[in-house]
Amino acid sequence: MYTEYVDLPAVPENLIETADTVLSKDLRSKRGSYETRHVSPELLDYLRSIFNADIIAQYQFFDINVPIHIDTTRVRVYNYILDTGGDNVSTGFYENGQLVHSVVFQPRKWHYVDTLISHGIHGIHPTRRRMSIGVQAVRIGDEMSQTIPGIRTLPTFDSLN
Ligand SMILES: [Fe+2]
Repeated sequence: MYTEYVDLPAVPENLIETADTVLSKDLRSKRGSYETRHVSPELLDYLRSIFNADIIAQYQFFDINVPIHIDTTRVRVYNYILDTGGDNVSTGFYENGQLVHSVVFQPRKWHYVDTLISHGIHGIHPTRRRMSIGVQAVRIGDEMSQTIPGIRTLPTFDSLN
């Protein structure tokens, strides 16, 4: 599978900070137009409770379209979109350079993306910014990953339950 919605509860709105608040925090990472910022300890606790795992989480922002790529730091991400960044923003998946799947993700519904499959994001409005919460079980290269067999295929949603 490239992506699927997953049956996890909606994040309580009182745990979600505004974009302005989050963007005033220190950067966690930045690559091109892709920036991440830390979630609050309260939100991290909540996310760890619904995933029932010692996950990593961050706010993610894109303000321009994302060219086709594979991720270098994670095998799968669980996203919870807070602002789509446009009315028809699609995520495309590619094999051998050909588009094989395209989806317009709905906000405030959990989905995962298998990030070792080529993917890109298209249709972000020029004056808007896409904002999401991203959750991953491990980062490639972290000590944690050494303890999980089959890191190239794990973690799956099932493995987190
Ligand atoms: Fe990606």
